[in-house]
Amino acid sequence: MSSLTLITGQVLAFDRSPFDGDPAGASTLHEALLIENGRIAAVGTAQELRAQAPQATVTNMGSRLISAGFVDAHVHYPQTAIIASWGKRLIDWLNTYTFPEEMRFADPAYAADIAGRYFDLMLAHGTTTCASYATIHPASVTAFFEAAQARGLRAVAGKTCMDRNAPEGLRDTAQSAYDNSKALLERWQGVDRLSYAITPRFSPTSTPDQLAALGALWSEYPECLMQTHLSEQVDEVAWVKSLYPEARDYLDTYESHGLLGARGLYGHAIHLETRERDRLREMGAALIHCPTSNTFIGSGCFNLAARVAEGQRVGLATDTGGGSSFSMLRTMAAAYEIGQLTGTALHPAQLLWLATAGSAKALHMGAHIGTIAPGMEADLVALDLASTPAIAQRSAQANDIWEALFPTIMMGDDRAIAGVWVAGKAVRI
Ligand code: GUN
Ligand code: ZN
Repeated sequence: MSSLTLITGQVLAFDRSPFDGDPAGASTLHEALLIENGRIAAVGTAQELRAQAPQATVTNMGSRLISAGFVDAHVHYPQTAIIASWGKRLIDWLNTYTFPEEMRFADPAYAADIAGRYFDLMLAHGTTTCASYATIHPASVTAFFEAAQARGLRAVAGKTCMDRNAPEGLRDTAQSAYDNSKALLERWQGVDRLSYAITPRFSPTSTPDQLAALGALWSEYPECLMQTHLSEQVDEVAWVKSLYPEARDYLDTYESHGLLGARGLYGHAIHLETRERDRLREMGAALIHCPTSNTFIGSGCFNLAARVAEGQRVGLATDTGGGSSFSMLRTMAAAYEIGQLTGTALHPAQLLWLATAGSAKALHMGAHIGTIAPGMEADLVALDLASTPAIAQRSAQANDIWEALFPTIMMGDDRAIAGVWVAGKAVRI
């Protein structure tokens, strides 16, 4: 027997990208949506959908805004317990906080504990899909996928590969990175809603041999995503140039080893040269903007509006725990603030689209998640647009949905999350 759920509220469905033309006109507000067997079956008026499915269970969300669930395109679930660690920039931050914590994932029980904690926090913040780095330990990937599978989530992860410039205990080799990544990929890619991403951490922690081995693996499994970091801090770019003297630029360290492609996800990508921007755009690769991380670790200002205008594919992400929040609302606020510093006031529709459809498209999942439309998987979030007194007094004066939403984008957190559905099942209301 099919399961039918009718949700009423302010259902916000994007009809096109708000970066193409008037942002405010890129979406339609509907009264209701109908979910059948985990997918969106229809959107429309409450009366129409009640007539279409009189036997449906009705969930009335009142004036809450119903959106596609948030999609976080770059996180490190193993850094959950070290989020908000004080006082360091990238390389010192990795050595002081990140690597010692990632060492603890040698214990599979610890990995399972943090994976569960991470997903509970992620869902509490309205995020229904993430693309995560694991640690170098294969069991840390297993822990992530088992926890995601148990919750019915669409999720991406990969074993982080490092064979130099990392402490003893956090290094693999070119061969073991290839072998272990391949075994994990064959175990998890396409199982339920799970996808594998080949994951060299970044060029400084891989030898050219390791990058080449992972490039070869990607060419054997081109359906997989590949995720890494690119040009996050100026010092890091200089370090890469010294480690790879023959490379034309940072991107070339990946490109020359088979690690540039349309299914590549390049985290940060702030300090790019013209050739790098051109190649990334020509290949259709995705740049993942991590604004709370970029301010927190002091990395710099990614010019999102300029990149999108050039035709670059861009996703949005928390970069937990280099990023300072699990919340995609807080992440949208930081993207707005960095936009102001780089000369563009991003419209609330653009911010919400980046956190949903934009990130879903970056992960090549735009046909499944990120938008409310018939046939899409029913991963949804309901936002309370008056979740605190400060937000309520501001949104009370709104003249349209965007004015009503913007205070929640700028000041909201997990208190604004009034409901979350994963494949049509309510996990929080
Ligand atoms: N570059 C290489 N590894 C990392 C990481 O874990 N976090 C961030 N923000 N940048 C990185
Ligand atoms: Zn990262």
